Amino acid sequence: MDTQVKFLHGENIPLEMHKVRIVQKLFLPPVEKRKEYMNEAGNNTFLLQNRDVFVDMLTDSGVNAMSDRQQAAMLVADDSYAGSETNNRLKNKLKEIFGTEYFLPAHQGRAAENILSEAFVKPGMVTLMNFHFTTTKAHITRLGGSVEELISKEGLEPTSDNPFKGNFDLELLRKRIEEVGPDKVAFVRIEAGTNLVGGQPLSMENMLAVAKICKEYGVLSVMDASLLQDNLYFIKTREAAAKDMSLREITRTLADAMDIIYFSARKLGFARGGGICMRDEALCKKMMEYVPLYEGFLTYGGMSVREMEAITVGLEETMDMDVISQGPQFIKYMVDELTKYGVPVITPAGGLGCHLNASEILPHIPQSQYPAGALAAAMYIAGGVRGMERGTLSEQREPDGSERFAEMELLRLAVPRRVFTLSQIKYVIDRVEWLYDNRELVGGLEFYDEPKVLRFFFGRLRPTSDWQDKLVAKFRKDFGDSL
Ligand code: F0G
Repeated sequence: MDTQVKFLHGENIPLEMHKVRIVQKLFLPPVEKRKEYMNEAGNNTFLLQNRDVFVDMLTDSGVNAMSDRQQAAMLVADDSYAGSETNNRLKNKLKEIFGTEYFLPAHQGRAAENILSEAFVKPGMVTLMNFHFTTTKAHITRLGGSVEELISKEGLEPTSDNPFKGNFDLELLRKRIEEVGPDKVAFVRIEAGTNLVGGQPLSMENMLAVAKICKEYGVLSVMDASLLQDNLYFIKTREAAAKDMSLREITRTLADAMDIIYFSARKLGFARGGGICMRDEALCKKMMEYVPLYEGFLTYGGMSVREMEAITVGLEETMDMDVISQGPQFIKYMVDELTKYGVPVITPAGGLGCHLNASEILPHIPQSQYPAGALAAAMYIAGGVRGMERGTLSEQREPDGSERFAEMELLRLAVPRRVFTLSQIKYVIDRVEWLYDNRELVGGLEFYDEPKVLRFFFGRLRPTSDWQDKLVAKFRKDFGDSL
């Protein structure tokens, strides 16, 4: 842990560099109820009611705690439709941080992806990226494009001590651009950091090399900066070349190399919104028309002006190491404790959350019965903890209807920023350890209602046997009348 505060007895725990001033009451239903609620929700954690969730680790999207300064800024928002001062403030902050002259607002990250895809993806075109994100791929394939993932080999190895597992395989990138032909490559998307492979970061060196290859072949480089906050922390703490650079310098170095930067401000900026930044006016014009069509006028793009003010302040706070270190430090604590106990988790600790490796925890469940989904359901039953399946359920079926088995079967326990205390994190670790001890009781899931697009959001599944009853009985045996 790279905290600057040392404890008398050398204890190595993350220390919150903020205090809590607004709270939300939580409820923990008894285990029998948790089993019932999980089944009412079709064994899909997206369909649980928040009132039934004790520790909500579904996502870090739009659920990060805001600062007092962000809340104060929301009061001075300028509602005017055109020429809004709020828009000017956000645009200027983005220009200050990224050095980009132009900004197209969008209501969230996937809306930016929709605009980018509409502007640059034509049927038969290829997009190259270190790894896909669900919404990104859905938009690109909807328009007849395809997605190719060029993550380095180690990116898909669950355990490693490579500090930058999100890196591109640079040789493969060059090879694929040449094979496909640069004019058939819609863009190269740099997901910094990655989402579906355990929040693993990319190095500054790798990103700059990718951008250089793009320039060489005249291919657009597009950075998805949704998870940039954590990635900046990892560059600063893990990459020798960046050790003496400020967060602003690192951000600017990366941004200067890219043609386009887009982001979900539900993650970057601790609020809710999104947008696309670029230096080049011609690029901006190619995308601009889609903003009023899909999002709203160019001064707000579907966002509330209050949220825009909060993003402006949130971006400024992202340039502060005390602020951005909190997430990665809590995640590292979880990863270290679970590793000590022997629970298979993705290593090294990344951003976004702690990722449990469901394939290794539940090797007896075939991928066709969604081991990561089963682990998500079991985790809720075990502790009222809501995680997110990041495995085969989160994939789309192939055009012929066959399953596309995910490279990794993960249960993501996201750590929203500044939201949970260390005792809540310890409780989650405790329940994961209990579940690990009882992993043989956990069985598979099967769909009884499967939507065609983004099925993980609304799909409903049932357990393939009475394994959940057995899990509840074991909980009672081990914990007595505890909640
Ligand atoms: N890109 C990345 C890397 C993301 O993590 C997300 C969202 C998006 C794009 C889309 O942004 O949600 O604002 O439309 N990730 C969320 C998550 C949903 O839970 O990981 P959005």
